[in-house]
Amino acid sequence: MRALTYHGAKDVRIETVPDPILLEDDDVILKVTATAICGSDLHLYRGKIPQVKDGDILGHEFMGIVQETGSAVSRVKKGDRVIIPFVIACGQCFFCQKDLFSACETTNTGRGAIINKKGITPSAALFGYSHLYGGVPGGQAELVRVPKGNVGPFPINGSLSDEQVLFLTDILPTGYQALLNAEVQAGSTLAIYGAGPVGLMAAACARMLGAETIFMIDHHEYRLDFAQQHYNTISINFDEDDDPAHTILENTQFRGVDAVIDAVGFEAKGSTVETVLTNLKLEGSSGEVLRQCIAAVRRGGIVSVPGVYAGFIHAFLFGDAFDKGLTIKMGQTHVQRFLPELLEFIENGDLTPADIITHRMSLEDAPRGYEIFNKKEENCRKVVLIPN
Ligand SMILES: NC(=O)c1ccc[n+]([C@@H]2O[C@H](COP(=O)([O-])OP(=O)(O)OC[C@H]3O[C@@H](n4cnc5c(N)ncnc54)[C@H](O)[C@@H]3O)[C@@H](O)[C@H]2O)c1
Ligand SMILES: [Zn+2]
Ligand SMILES: [Zn+2]
Repeated sequence: MRALTYHGAKDVRIETVPDPILLEDDDVILKVTATAICGSDLHLYRGKIPQVKDGDILGHEFMGIVQETGSAVSRVKKGDRVIIPFVIACGQCFFCQKDLFSACETTNTGRGAIINKKGITPSAALFGYSHLYGGVPGGQAELVRVPKGNVGPFPINGSLSDEQVLFLTDILPTGYQALLNAEVQAGSTLAIYGAGPVGLMAAACARMLGAETIFMIDHHEYRLDFAQQHYNTISINFDEDDDPAHTILENTQFRGVDAVIDAVGFEAKGSTVETVLTNLKLEGSSGEVLRQCIAAVRRGGIVSVPGVYAGFIHAFLFGDAFDKGLTIKMGQTHVQRFLPELLEFIENGDLTPADIITHRMSLEDAPRGYEIFNKKEENCRKVVLIPN
């Protein structure tokens, strides 16, 4: 089969590799009909995530048709059309039973990313996301082996197109979980840092839940314009305004918004010192957006962090967060938990996530897709790849 493989920073290729086979009784082999490139893939692409090996197949946002099932799979059968959550969960451990699927402690054979590890088990395995997360081959391919076939694959019936439901695999539940963590409701004031796919999904969900005011912060004018036109956000371009939090404080009644979402993560642009230290591996992450978030939220407010972080940050103003009495919530998305309700929102027309797609390409052109998305060329918001 053909698949997108990693060969070092900014070197991904489409190659012919062996077809996947069933390894466990509850595995599924899926024929991929659509897959997307995620901002999380860009961390891999830029070589920022350790333990990605030469030849690893990337991709964690994908859907398709069940081609083969192991003897213990009862939830889906050959020919079913399904979306696959990017988180691989067993459905049975202590954490899965609490709907904390991304904390599943039985699926990840890798080390996990935690530094002060002691005896803790790693978080759930992820498709195509380094050997820290299990080294599971990803779905930017013609075929993919899907472990936990009775827990992950989520059947999609009816007349919805691939594009309408593809983002249920990751970015839509991620935006939604960020909003629920932020306790956004009718009348809320909100700021979202990062107008990439995750920030845009968060804005769409915020509008659906009745948020009153939404500030959107980025420096790509075309992304800010899209958010403003589709989700009625107030744009702040951080190339023109180097302290968006200050502007937010000046334009809110109680000196800050009720909640802030960090949809950027550890590669945030802003602090040259942190960027240099991070490149030298002396710093784990850029704390630029977290500092902005803590400054932009009102006293007693919530900072919700779907953006990915790794390791330590020196200039993390924990004392400011304490003084303001903030709540901070974060983490990988518990995708499986939100699928039924989000599918309903799509069926009702309350959410139309496919709006953000700008690029539809053949899987064969995936390396160019990565380049365009990474460099933000051609006003790229989201790339969908279609295997032949
Ligand atoms: N928690 C999860 O389960 C989960 C799931 C999916 C993605 N993610 C993470 O969410 C983040 C965003 O993903 P995406 O697909 O939208 O990526 P993306 O790279 O397309 O978007 C990130 C945006 O942040 C902007 N940005 C950079 N520095 C900024 C700053 N200082 N202030 C404001 N904006 C800034 C960039 O210009 C870009 O538009 C990534 O870290 C990704 O790994 C997490
Ligand atoms: Zn993703
Ligand atoms: Zn589990």
